[in-house]
Amino acid sequence: MTEHGLLDTDEADIPGDEFEEVDLEDTAADEAGRVADRELNEFRERIKDTEQFKVEASVFDDATYAALYKLVQDGHIVAFGGPISTGKEANVYTALGPDETEVAVKVYRINASDFTDMRGYLDGDPRFRGIGSDKKKVVLAWVRKEFANLERARQAGVRVPDPTAVQRNVLVMEYLGTEAGRAKRLSEVDIENPETAFEVVREYMRRLRDAGLVHGDLSEYNVVFHEGQLVVLDLGQAVTVHHPNAREFLERDCENVAAFFGRQGLDVTAADLLGFVTGDE
Ligand SMILES: Nc1ncnc2c1ncn2[C@@H]1O[C@H](COP(=O)(O)OP(=O)(O)O)[C@@H](O)[C@H]1O
Ligand SMILES: [Mg+2]
Repeated sequence: MTEHGLLDTDEADIPGDEFEEVDLEDTAADEAGRVADRELNEFRERIKDTEQFKVEASVFDDATYAALYKLVQDGHIVAFGGPISTGKEANVYTALGPDETEVAVKVYRINASDFTDMRGYLDGDPRFRGIGSDKKKVVLAWVRKEFANLERARQAGVRVPDPTAVQRNVLVMEYLGTEAGRAKRLSEVDIENPETAFEVVREYMRRLRDAGLVHGDLSEYNVVFHEGQLVVLDLGQAVTVHHPNAREFLERDCENVAAFFGRQGLDVTAADLLGFVTGDE
């Protein structure tokens, strides 16, 4: 840690590095994908026939079907819904989960063109020492990191989608939204009370950091309104405060958030926000 020169002595107790080691052995889904039994083939054909999946079906490789199948077998997914979002690295879908609740299913595409961006976040994270450059391992590590980050954020009192399962390149979590559609992003709504919204986001940032995490991609696009609450999304890239670039990521988060609320008419600066988050006001 000290070689990065980032830690003040009074920061040394901040959690972060004691995260569990992430196991990158083949998952059950890889095994199942290899066996590729008849049931799996039937499952795959069934999904491919689903109207909503027709367009996207081509993005899934066999092991992804196996992962989805495993999630169905384990009861985390009961039926598939439609797509919510098609991102650079992952697609998000709705699905029916256990007990008639809706869940969100985030499927990372192992063969998506560019994972070099991911390296900057993984390298330097003690949880992912020595994973090398294998694309599949990078993505698998990423998904498990997202799951672990969501769990940690939740425990720190930051409202995030509750993660329920992870399987290979697929993450299942609480769905935010209604039958009418996904929860709207901060960028998509007229904020009635920007002052209050800012105070909540600021407090979330502080709690995250106190729990040893920096979001790393925080902006009006990764915060949504759900049932009267602000909810933070997309924690895949979040790093521990001991990551060599943690400070840079935190400063960038502060700049994004301050700029957004500045446009909402608030008199806020990135520097003040950084001071609040780090407790160095
Ligand atoms: N749990 C969820 N519930 C509802 N919508 C979600 C959920 N997770 C993601 N989304 C929607 O999908 C979009 C992309 O998800 P995100 O996790 O931000 O992935 P990306 O890395 O593609 O930005 C979000 O902006 C949000 O609109
Ligand atoms: Mg996002």
